[in-house]
Amino acid sequence: MATIHGDITGIRKSILKRLETLYEFEISRNEIITLDLAQVLLSISDQIQREIAIYLNRHGRVTSVAVGDIRTVGLPELNGRRGQNRLSGIRCIHTHPNSSSALSELDIASLREMHFDLIAALSTGPEGKIDASYAYITKIIEDETDIHYIGPVNLDEFIKTDFTALLLSVDHRAELMNTVHIAEKESALLAGIEQTKTEDIRLSLDELEQLAQTAGAIVVGKVWQKRDRPDPVYYLGRGKIEEIKFLRQTKQANMIIFDDELSPTQQRNLEESLGIKVLDRTALILDIFAQRARSYEGKLQVALAQMRYNLPRLGGQGLVLSRLGGGIGTRGPGETKLEIDRRRIRSRIAEIEKAIEELKQQRTLHRQRRQNEQKIAVALVGYTNAGKSTLLNALTAAGVMAEDKLFATLDPTTRRAVLPDGQEILITDTVGFIQKLPHQLIAAFRATLEEVVQSDLLIHVVDAAHPGYQRQTEAVFQVLKELQADTKPVITAFNKIDSIDSPYQLERLLRQDNSVGISALSGQGIERLLQMVQEYLYTNKQQQKRELLLPYDQSGLLATLYKNAAVHKVQYCPEGIRVIVSLPLAMIDFYQTYVLQGDE
Ligand code: GTP
Repeated sequence: MATIHGDITGIRKSILKRLETLYEFEISRNEIITLDLAQVLLSISDQIQREIAIYLNRHGRVTSVAVGDIRTVGLPELNGRRGQNRLSGIRCIHTHPNSSSALSELDIASLREMHFDLIAALSTGPEGKIDASYAYITKIIEDETDIHYIGPVNLDEFIKTDFTALLLSVDHRAELMNTVHIAEKESALLAGIEQTKTEDIRLSLDELEQLAQTAGAIVVGKVWQKRDRPDPVYYLGRGKIEEIKFLRQTKQANMIIFDDELSPTQQRNLEESLGIKVLDRTALILDIFAQRARSYEGKLQVALAQMRYNLPRLGGQGLVLSRLGGGIGTRGPGETKLEIDRRRIRSRIAEIEKAIEELKQQRTLHRQRRQNEQKIAVALVGYTNAGKSTLLNALTAAGVMAEDKLFATLDPTTRRAVLPDGQEILITDTVGFIQKLPHQLIAAFRATLEEVVQSDLLIHVVDAAHPGYQRQTEAVFQVLKELQADTKPVITAFNKIDSIDSPYQLERLLRQDNSVGISALSGQGIERLLQMVQEYLYTNKQQQKRELLLPYDQSGLLATLYKNAAVHKVQYCPEGIRVIVSLPLAMIDFYQTYVLQGDE
């Protein structure tokens, strides 16, 4: 028999039985609680007029049910991971019969003490409306905890909260204090190296400025030095470092961002020498991705990339170790804190890799389902801010967010679009590429970028109005190469032609094979682009024309053909339905038995 903890004196057997049923609920990992579970919990609590608490683990299982004040209930399962700056892996959801859902001081104290993943209270209002209030820990450093409190909110809103995403960001913050975050309106100096042309470093630093702004910083100055390669100790020469020290004071900058990935040693030396926060392009991009990832998968991928980036950098300034007042010299019994921290991050990396692998399998299943639909898959690729999301909107009226900020899109979105011949295809918008895209990110986003690898055709969206569009194009091809997708067929869509004044410039761009000028914003050229996709399908034998005879008892197939192929002609004859159709390759075998004539 399942145990009901707490004070159960005076509770009828039938109610105890109902309480036991609470153990039978299982919910998905992403949910905080389900509607039925919340309703049953409240209905029993309202009936007996006592608090009831359920404790759920991260697999969505109810591990304990208790009656009475949550403080007085002994729960052996909670002792596991508590302490050690970690969350317990257990959340507590309890009722407040006859009062508001607002969390009491006692509730908050339990949260602090037990390191619950989350604590929530539910209550039924006078008109039967259910409210929820909840709180969770956002930071644990030794005995100090920061708590975020939300509520009261209505039950619907509470239920809709993505628990895993919430948890991930919490765990992530609590355990990864190393990650550099840019606070709103911090002032930054930018620094880089001129290796080839002045124009190149100017463009690169302009882009770094845009990245810094996207992350929320204000750029107060840019410096660069002409050198063949970075100095291994300070990245720049000593003289330049002195100049930066001076500039830092006059411009009152509180951080400096370097245009390349710094080695852990360079970063440490620069922090020591300059005495301000030192970031590199990689950390900045990771920070932007961390702010922008929306889906659970996106968050996991970014967390993974950040951890991989941070691992070799543990021990620098601003890291957890120095906050704890020690660092490499602080020895615990038998091992340094640094080792403990490294081990913790490694095990977290392993956990996240496992979770990503699970999601990858789900994604593969989705893809297979889509492939079973036998639709042609097209992926939009391009430099960040080129206009991919806007184009996807134009092509499919998908309503994907488009913003004039770098990396607005992190999560791939797949939508249906209709070609001029009526055939439906699938179009996926992917993460924007960028020069020096951190390799940790490419690795972490590999599962997402699979959409590119698996597609039949790429539409490369180029911001034709950008002065550095050629360099951007090179960067895109480099990432495609890393993904081994550089041999895929590509249509180049030169976007933003509404912002190009010179007809000569446009004409020059369009000399490139398989290219089209478009304005995703105004819709100009979109029809032509779809036409080109269609032509590609025909000319590359991704489709073959067939004449079919469908028996009347198979007339349902006609609807499928209308949806997934290009139907040219339909004729109802005594012997059956004659259809002239261009079939995608994947469908040809299936329709072989109905074929009247071969390829035309
Ligand atoms: P990431 O998510 O960073 O990869 O960007 P993206 O390639 O998806 O770009 P997005 O669609 O978010 O567009 C970036 C900016 O360019 C937005 O401000 C758009 O309004 C603008 N934009 C997109 N297409 C056009 C166009 O045809 N003409 C003009 N003038 N602006 C455009």
